[in-house]
Amino acid sequence: MPLVTTKEMFEKAYKGGYAVGAFNVNNMEMIQAIVEAASECRSPVILQVSAGARKYANPVYLRHLVQAAVETTDIPIAMHLDHGADFETCKASIDDGFTSVMIDASSKPWDENIAITKKVVEYAHDHGVVVEAELGKLAGVEDDVKVEAKDAMFTSPDEVEEFTSKTGIDSLAIAIGTSHGAYKFKPGQDPKLRIDILEEIGSRLPGFPIVLHGASSVPQDQVAIINKFGGEMPNAIGIPESELKKAAKLAVCKINIDSDLRVAFTAAIRKHFVDNPSHFDPRQYLTDARLNMKEMVKHKIVNVLGSANKA
Ligand code: G3H
Ligand code: 13P
Ligand code: ZN
Repeated sequence: MPLVTTKEMFEKAYKGGYAVGAFNVNNMEMIQAIVEAASECRSPVILQVSAGARKYANPVYLRHLVQAAVETTDIPIAMHLDHGADFETCKASIDDGFTSVMIDASSKPWDENIAITKKVVEYAHDHGVVVEAELGKLAGVEDDVKVEAKDAMFTSPDEVEEFTSKTGIDSLAIAIGTSHGAYKFKPGQDPKLRIDILEEIGSRLPGFPIVLHGASSVPQDQVAIINKFGGEMPNAIGIPESELKKAAKLAVCKINIDSDLRVAFTAAIRKHFVDNPSHFDPRQYLTDARLNMKEMVKHKIVNVLGSANKA
């Protein structure tokens, strides 16, 4: 099956009360882990590429690796640009064969966000590509840009109808308390999402797919492995899976997960070297890393997203 857009995935996810996982990819092992997991769970999946991934791996490599994934499975796979910073980056990805792009002008003033987003939508739709945009501001780190918690801003339900109708976007990323990275809450803070805001946005945009960024849960068993085997991730706290499950049953159709994959990959490598200090063949430790990441993705699909057997 060739790469697909997220259109049909989201229609089914909305009606079915589940969400599709959007997992960040940077190299071959990560792509294999995610696609093997999705394939074994018979789940649709979104592989997403950030600016950092483009810089690290070279977009041409990533395109061919994703193509290899498509040729070796029969599940629906979308290739998505994560946090496209400007029209040029979105255009380059569309020209490169991506089936979905995010234009993230959420830090720009209202009129500018609308104008840039609209321009991307026009180009994307002319090329059969779908567009995600964002309203509101998430705290955390993305592509080396740090938004302090005090500068984060929940999405205002009063703005979503005007924004979606003026831009023509296909899905909307909102801020309801998620944030990027592995340190989302301080110890003692209540790690809750504003499900009330999501419900209100859902009622203003019936049938419209909502996206959650910064949705890693930072599983404590994996953090404990990192800390036990020489790492230092004190106070890494994520979004409780119970909160994400509630969101997936509502209007949220796409849930972005990156940090949890990194934690799984790194935990396996740290453990591998302590258990096998003489190993120096990358295939040995990358096999463990890939397997642990695959288990993490399966866990998300089955226990959080609800997208198993929906391919
Ligand atoms: O939202 C950001 C993603 O986690 C990608 O992270 O920019 O370090 O590749 P990155
Ligand atoms: P996490 O850092 O919570 O995994 O979020 C990833 C993300 O939103 C990618 O766009
Ligand atoms: Zn994000």
